[in-house]
Amino acid sequence: MTESTNQTAIELINVHKDYTMDLTRIAVLRGISLKIPRGATAAVTGKSGAGKSTLLHIIGTLDRPSSGTVLIGGSDVSMMNDATLSQFRNRSVGFIFQMNNLLPEFTALENVMMPGIIARLPRGAVITRAKELLAAVGLGERYKHKPGELSGGEQQRVAIARAMIMSPSLIVADEPTGNLDRKTSLVIQDLLLNLVRESRMTMLMVTHDIELAKRLPTQIVMEDGLLALDGVLH
Ligand SMILES: Nc1ncnc2c1ncn2[C@@H]1O[C@H](COP(=O)(O)OP(=O)(O)O)[C@@H](O)[C@H]1O
Ligand SMILES: [Mg+2]
Repeated sequence: MTESTNQTAIELINVHKDYTMDLTRIAVLRGISLKIPRGATAAVTGKSGAGKSTLLHIIGTLDRPSSGTVLIGGSDVSMMNDATLSQFRNRSVGFIFQMNNLLPEFTALENVMMPGIIARLPRGAVITRAKELLAAVGLGERYKHKPGELSGGEQQRVAIARAMIMSPSLIVADEPTGNLDRKTSLVIQDLLLNLVRESRMTMLMVTHDIELAKRLPTQIVMEDGLLALDGVLH
């Protein structure tokens, strides 16, 4: 691996994504090339339908491009088979969504542990780490609660802890505070940004909240399946 590859967290080369509906092809991503350095935190903004979530899903390896190359931490994920990709995703990417996608039948602690259980890590170590993370997000006392017994802000704290349990190099967040009131949103933003900076993770965050976007040092603007700037980041 070359030095420059090693310093690049995300590299997309001419990524296209098309959907075919009723025999009509819709070009959602129309040739995106970008490089994001390791440790960068970037906001992705743009109008509804611009392709922000699609881009995030492709970078998070939840979805595959129709064509083009996606390198995450220097690994060409476009070449991985589904099983290898699942394992890669579990270990390397943390996800935070607007709807937190917590499992309602499980406690906060169990939800945070889930990626570690999927990775078959030793249970004791996963419990210890999950408790540390729940304390770090301010939920040290409430780890036995199920999502339905927690407020929206608390649920999002659990989702943040879950995204971090595998110490992934990359966090992708899609409108992570979009469902919260303004005051709670600001608290959760501070928490997330501080944790990401402390652990030197790379983060890509989709948001329509311009004030939140401005808190991140790098801005990516999407327009109709393309980057509004030419997408080369330094
Ligand atoms: N699975 C899908 N099938 C068909 N069209 C889709 C699918 N996912 C997204 N799209 C279309 O792609 C476009 C971009 O969607 P999306 O990435 O969700 O935009 P954004 O997050 O910027 O609002 C939209 O026109 C949407 O309808
Ligand atoms: Mg979206």
